[in-house]
Amino acid sequence: MVDGGGLSRELERRTPRPATRLAHLLTSGGDARLSVDPATRLNGYGCRPEPRHEALSFASSTATSISVRAFVAVQAAYWRLGRSLGERRFSRLFGDMTEELRAEIKTLLSLEGSDTEIVFSPSGTDAALHALIVARSLCGTPLVSVIAASDETGSGTNDAAQGRHFNSVTARGVPVVKGERIAGLADGVASAPLRCRNADGTLRTDAEMDDDVLCAVARAVAQGQRVLLYVMDHSKLGRRCPTRAALGEIRSAYGSSVVVAIDACQMRLSRDALKWYLDQGFMVAITGSKFFTGPPFSGALLVPPALAARMSLVADVPAGFRQYAARDDWPAAWGRFRNGLADGANVGQLLRWVAAVEEMRSYFAVPSAYRARALRSFAATVPSLIVERPELQPLPDSRAPFAADGEREDEMAVRTIFPFLLRRSGKAMALAEATAVYRALNRDITPLLPPTISIDEYRLAAQICHIGQPVAVFDSTTSTMTGALRISASSRFVSETWSSRGYPESLVNLDREFDRVLTILSKTQLAIRHFGHLQGRI
Ligand SMILES: Cc1ncc(COP(=O)(O)O)c(C=O)c1O
Repeated sequence: MVDGGGLSRELERRTPRPATRLAHLLTSGGDARLSVDPATRLNGYGCRPEPRHEALSFASSTATSISVRAFVAVQAAYWRLGRSLGERRFSRLFGDMTEELRAEIKTLLSLEGSDTEIVFSPSGTDAALHALIVARSLCGTPLVSVIAASDETGSGTNDAAQGRHFNSVTARGVPVVKGERIAGLADGVASAPLRCRNADGTLRTDAEMDDDVLCAVARAVAQGQRVLLYVMDHSKLGRRCPTRAALGEIRSAYGSSVVVAIDACQMRLSRDALKWYLDQGFMVAITGSKFFTGPPFSGALLVPPALAARMSLVADVPAGFRQYAARDDWPAAWGRFRNGLADGANVGQLLRWVAAVEEMRSYFAVPSAYRARALRSFAATVPSLIVERPELQPLPDSRAPFAADGEREDEMAVRTIFPFLLRRSGKAMALAEATAVYRALNRDITPLLPPTISIDEYRLAAQICHIGQPVAVFDSTTSTMTGALRISASSRFVSETWSSRGYPESLVNLDREFDRVLTILSKTQLAIRHFGHLQGRI
């Protein structure tokens, strides 16, 4: 968080080259997850704050390095801001640019003309925290956060949903202790995490998940507690829960005792579904950094008109929350709440959203028929490429049939995340081993392999491949925690394969992408076969 003059001086002192300065800004205004290792120039999620041409990337379930197109958009926004650095008009310009982003996001998501408000945040996890602030402000305490599919959301979401610090540093750069209570926010707040997998790793059925959610809500209400229900649409591995039927039941049974926030941070839902949720009066947490491949990380909470109108009367800001957010992050219409927050522009967050909006714009500029076709083609092709390799064990589709009326025709009706376990010597590899393979994929491993490998294997080993980081899944046959790696379709997969010259060229581009997936899978096999050489060295 910076004022104009401070930003200018500090950046020029630390980073004399403009591009480096931009990369530095893109990693500011968030938590420690944005930190870049000076040796590799990668963050903990394998992303670089500059375009990373050399990587074959299907990592949108976790995070993706910025594209050239988005980097150019960020550069333009930076120069626009830069003209007012050190001047008083910096904060007005920053506020204007934030409002422009709000308007553009609403247009892109087909929400223009609605009184839905947008709260910006540095990540999806921060958006979960913001949902708690809204629910607590409107309903008071005691309050229970019921979290559906708590085992397949962000690793910090459980803490955020209870009003606890979820990282070692806040977006305003204040060091904190993960898991400790955020002053004024955690009091009177408890959480009820509901896992979507049983202890043996099997999926809980839709009926079981509905039952779990209904019981947790009923129990809380019977005890005189208010409920913030985090609904999953959809999770890291594709789960959606509870069902709409259960949501309808909750609404009619408990009315305003239950506030609902949809965890749509993967942004793998249709605009129709998004609108449907908002029309029900549900908040929706989104990000620009997963399906839409904006640089890590950017989040936002969409607040439906009825809740937004009530928030405009709220003035109390929990003391500890001032360490997280600044005035411009919150809607202009919520003046009383904003007054309780500090001034101070989060330039990094703004620039990351500028990049994400550029990707969203490119995606929605593609004809809808091609968007649907490309994603359908991904959904048909990628599993067939995974299944034919004995070292890779695909996980079944865990998505409940959750489509709204008419959504079936939408591009998001198909599966876009394809998780698979790794098998070595006939057994699923443990989580730590899967993590080592995941790291091996994202670097040149030629120095680690024996000199006897063939020239083709050498080329494969040198290729940088970036996919979604492992998600812990219990394997009952070995009684160990395994790790599911993920290959995912993203908005860029669609916008960068589309050719305005027409389908034939676009389809050739799609084939090029599937060749890249093949390369990634072949490198994964190579890493597994030579795992003995990699173990302990990666
Ligand atoms: C379903 C879901 N919700 C929330 C999050 C947290 O988002 P972020 O990584 O932007 O904090 C994630 C992260 O992977 C996620 O998959």
